[in-house]
Amino acid sequence: RKAIAVMTSGGDAPGMNSNVRAIVRTALFRGCRAYAVMEGYTGLVEGGPEYIKQMSWDDVRDWSSQGGTNIGTARCKEFRTREGRLLGALHLIEAGVDALIVCGGDGSLTGADLFRHEWPSLIKELLDTNRITSSQYKTYQHLNICGTVGSIDNDMATTDATIGAYSSLDRICTAIDYIESTAFSHSRAFVVEVMGRNCGWLALMAGIATSADYILIPEKPASSRDWQDQMCDIVAKHRNRGKRTTIVIVAEGAISADLTPIKAEDVKEVLVDRLHLDTRVTILGHVQRGGTPVAFDRILATLQGVEAVDAVLESTPQTPSPLIAINENQIHRKSLVESVKLTKDVAAAIQAKDFKKAMSLRDTE
Ligand code: F6P
Repeated sequence: RKAIAVMTSGGDAPGMNSNVRAIVRTALFRGCRAYAVMEGYTGLVEGGPEYIKQMSWDDVRDWSSQGGTNIGTARCKEFRTREGRLLGALHLIEAGVDALIVCGGDGSLTGADLFRHEWPSLIKELLDTNRITSSQYKTYQHLNICGTVGSIDNDMATTDATIGAYSSLDRICTAIDYIESTAFSHSRAFVVEVMGRNCGWLALMAGIATSADYILIPEKPASSRDWQDQMCDIVAKHRNRGKRTTIVIVAEGAISADLTPIKAEDVKEVLVDRLHLDTRVTILGHVQRGGTPVAFDRILATLQGVEAVDAVLESTPQTPSPLIAINENQIHRKSLVESVKLTKDVAAAIQAKDFKKAMSLRDTE
């Protein structure tokens, strides 16, 4: 019987609990043992039944509608070292686990793939230092790894949506709707900073959904002069038509053409100095990551979870680690390592202002 462990890693995202629930229950349904690694990679490094916990059907009851991740998450420094990964391998073998499904963003999934590649040398070292027996060494020759993509940023190449992105978008839109009414009352401008790291998806989609006046995203850097002129022209035009509110959305990773960050306070200064608008800044922060997942994230997380277990059960030592993606409403298996590489290449091309390359890389998705 296979023993499948699930872990959530990196920033939490609404829908991660639905994903864990689906993985635990599908694993049990397929006759496997199910485990949860608590506190992300920290749980692997620490080990023991407290951290690598066997899960039953009832343990995940009612998890679908719950926000955050009930099995904990972390950004773990120790796992970035070989010694940390060696402990991780030892603890998985001690728990009898031979497959690991990681729900996280590109950093977490890169760590997972590295772990799989290093696995043969890690278990050899464990054998040579008498930390595992030769029978354990023979049984655990291969570690199955699979990635399900959980991140509010929606920044992973090869998938149309990541678990949590639509919940976060919904939260941002609700917050901006609230801001609209106070902005209207005072005839004020608001500069709203949203999360997303180096990806402008949340800012752009929230801007469209709330009819924002102007949106600043990392993918479209302009010279300071250009974006300031364009923003002021547009806002002034709207104001001249009698609009009492101004909403400018700034992605937290927004940059100008010389790659300097554009901060909400900078944008406010321009609106005050050039248009004399009474302006406030709202940094939405972690409210964007909290709360219950929207239906789409619950469904996406469940479909990904079921597929991840099946992918693990069908994989051989020769199969590349899969990443479970959604494309045009269909669940697909992609190569984890290629998806992570493509994500990093697109980000690097944007940073280098090579938009032609960034677009052509995106087309290959
Ligand atoms: O990757 C998810 C995310 O919420 C980003 O949008 C944000 O930049 C970052 O995590 C915040 O991280 P932390 O919760 O560690 O402050």
